[in-house]
Amino acid sequence: APATRDRLRIAIQKSGRLAEPARALLTACGLSWRESRDKLFCYGESLPIDLLLVRDDDIPGLIADGVCDFGVVGRNELDEQAGERARIGLPQAFREFRALGFGQCRLMLAVPDSWDWQGPQQLQGQRIATSYPAILAQWLQDQAIDASVVELSGSVEIAPRLGTADAICDLVSSGATLAANQLKPVETLLDSEAVLAGPSREFEDERAGLAAMLLRRIDGVLKLKD
Ligand code: PRP
Ligand code: ZN
Ligand code: MG
Repeated sequence: APATRDRLRIAIQKSGRLAEPARALLTACGLSWRESRDKLFCYGESLPIDLLLVRDDDIPGLIADGVCDFGVVGRNELDEQAGERARIGLPQAFREFRALGFGQCRLMLAVPDSWDWQGPQQLQGQRIATSYPAILAQWLQDQAIDASVVELSGSVEIAPRLGTADAICDLVSSGATLAANQLKPVETLLDSEAVLAGPSREFEDERAGLAAMLLRRIDGVLKLKD
């Protein structure tokens, strides 16, 4: 059973696209912190809500393990790791609580510019590079396409030029990365943005009240932004 705690711990990205807006949102909620020297842990001053600065990919697992209570992470990462847990038979341990309105991007299939795109069936028998194997495998299954998934943790967009894949499935924001690699987006698998993720289980200690307050404050801040 998860340890009892009387402070809430929120994981955010240490650096990267979601780091600054995540901190700005929590600051707008009235949170403030005294940063530790190494800046990986920020002790909450205005409220008993601490920050953990981590890699975004680690956030779902930290929630699943009860190391932190909430996290600001891309829906893409949350859905991927939920899909992977389902695939290996683990119970769902985290879920999306709120969409946060920043970090919008799309998980898309992209093919070489030279392809004359006719539709998903064209992927039959092809190799597709991605950092999102669970989401991609599910989509391929839904489309009844038999293709091989090449898992890469980064620099996915270079795979077609290297000859290690025929197409890719990756996040697209401005589209500049695809264009620079002579690829074009053809199908959207997921509309993503930053979300507040938290545990599937209810809190049974002081964190329940803190969590309710945090959600109320986030809702207030999001309302002001509409
Ligand atoms: C994402 C994605 C692409 C890029 C797309 O990577 O993997 O490389 O952004 O953005 P664009 O459409 O605006 O060019 P990101 O830089 O977020 O980091 P990572 O690949 O290192 O995780
Ligand atoms: Zn990442
Ligand atoms: Mg990238």
